[in-house]
Amino acid sequence: MLFPIADVLNPEQVAAAREALAKAEWIDGKATAGYQSAKAKDNMQLPQDHPVARQVGEMILAALGRNPLFMAAALPLHVYPPMFNRYSGGQQFGTHVDNAIRQIPGTGHRVRTDLSATLFFAGPEEYDGGELVIEDTYGPKAVKLPAGHMILYPATSLHYVRPVTRGARLCSFFWIQSMIRDDGKRAILFDLDQGIQRLARDLPGNEAAEASTVQLTGVYHNLLRQWAEM
Ligand code: NI
Repeated sequence: MLFPIADVLNPEQVAAAREALAKAEWIDGKATAGYQSAKAKDNMQLPQDHPVARQVGEMILAALGRNPLFMAAALPLHVYPPMFNRYSGGQQFGTHVDNAIRQIPGTGHRVRTDLSATLFFAGPEEYDGGELVIEDTYGPKAVKLPAGHMILYPATSLHYVRPVTRGARLCSFFWIQSMIRDDGKRAILFDLDQGIQRLARDLPGNEAAEASTVQLTGVYHNLLRQWAEM
């Protein structure tokens, strides 16, 4: 499931992050690519241990922790520390699948990448090209979102970034290990969660609706109990 999440960061947060990112020293993105993806990857990246990467990354993680849509859609167990990339002057990233397991630098901790996330820091009007194209079950989808918005997509999918032919594309990217490894099961839980919330919202004070809400909430938690891995 492709899952856009609007306004993960507000315009003030985006502006503060961009100011810090503009002053940082960027390196060749091949530094963190595996053997196969190094051949496809042509972009610039902020070193993972750069203080700006840590500072902006922590802002993103805090914002995600307060975002009910993200929590419901991703059911996160671990979130990889956000990384940052920039594409300009025709740079692109050819078709690839992200590595399944990533070690968090400086720790022995490994994250299984169930979901990939891209958070946009430049508005679509600021650059040409640079769409993130994801091979979905129903064909390729091109994604280019407003600054502060994020796309969540299954890390199992083939994807690429089209060449940026004008301006610069600035994004954060990272991965999520979900309590629910399977994309289909996660989608069922999300639908159930949203349905329960709609029932509670649209029929306030209705006794039958309240009883159904309690029952369906029980079903939600019992499915989560069956399926969750921690
Ligand atoms: Ni990728």
